[in-house]
Amino acid sequence: MELLNINELHINFSTNGGQVQVLSGFCLDIQKGNSICLVGESGCGKTIVALSIMRLLPENAQISGKIRFKDRDLLTLGKEEMRRIRGHEISMIFEQPSSCLNPVFTVGDQIAEAVRANEECEKKEARESAIALMKLTGIPSPEKRFGQYPHEFSGGMLQRAMISIAMASKPALLIADEPTTSLDVSVQAQMIELIKDLIAKFDMSLLLITHDLGVAAELCRDVVVMYAGEIVENGGLNEVFDHPRHPYTQALLKAISDGELRPIRGTVPELTHLPEGCRFHPRCPYAKEQCCYLKPDLINGVRCHLWKKC
Ligand SMILES: Nc1ncnc2c1ncn2[C@@H]1O[C@H](COP(=O)(O)OP(=O)(O)OP(=O)(O)O)[C@@H](O)[C@H]1O
Ligand SMILES: [Mg+2]
Repeated sequence: MELLNINELHINFSTNGGQVQVLSGFCLDIQKGNSICLVGESGCGKTIVALSIMRLLPENAQISGKIRFKDRDLLTLGKEEMRRIRGHEISMIFEQPSSCLNPVFTVGDQIAEAVRANEECEKKEARESAIALMKLTGIPSPEKRFGQYPHEFSGGMLQRAMISIAMASKPALLIADEPTTSLDVSVQAQMIELIKDLIAKFDMSLLLITHDLGVAAELCRDVVVMYAGEIVENGGLNEVFDHPRHPYTQALLKAISDGELRPIRGTVPELTHLPEGCRFHPRCPYAKEQCCYLKPDLINGVRCHLWKKC
């Protein structure tokens, strides 16, 4: 069953430097219970996709297209209706958990607050539910931890607290934007296990944003590879990672082979000065003449004039 469908999403920002086209005709389908990751270099528009779904884009953004969630177009909903979806049916976790927690309230109170935002209940019940959520997300001694402040939590524990808040509503869709990036490697592995357990237990769909292809492989069935505001390749994760067709996907995978990150030659184009034709052609080792002026469409999961030949 289809849960989320993004169709022809275009997002521009008006800036002092002119119009910036950050997403061009972005499309995505998320089925109930599926997990999809968005990968691509910094600045390619991954977070913008997430913020569009949450309707949390900055004021200077112009949006067109459709974002259908359970048969409602999120882009046409009023503020109040959207608030009912955000944090209830769709929750989001971010790279920096500290930015989502208020330093002057205890962690437990903030989780209990999220519980009360989702169901009418007495303070005592909300506290019990919050403690249960802390237990669910692996926070040790939750009764004691309930009364502690964010600064008393380690990065990994804060991330668990943020996941507790996100899980308070048992959302149908969890959006996780670089959930493991700020954590130590050992804590990263625990976080992957936790997210994996939660999506299985609650039959949640996951939209994961990461530049870590290892994390993507652990958590997701499908992958969407983005470059300069558009999809260059998508499909089943194993298939794409084992047989990448787009030269950018090939370069991205090569960049982390042997566990080492080697930069791809060249840089991502300025979104104010996107190249004609294929946006990747200035960096592409296989670029032919037509790539410089003819824009390729996304056909059978790959946006490349030459994929059969390279
Ligand atoms: N308010 C804004 N005004 C103008 N441009 C913006 C604004 N917010 C983001 N952008 C631009 O939109 C593009 C996409 O940004 P986004 O944050 O989605 O990238 P990302 O793929 O999430 O990168 P990262 O991996 O570094 O998080 C970037 O080039 C960024 O500079
Ligand atoms: Mg981002």
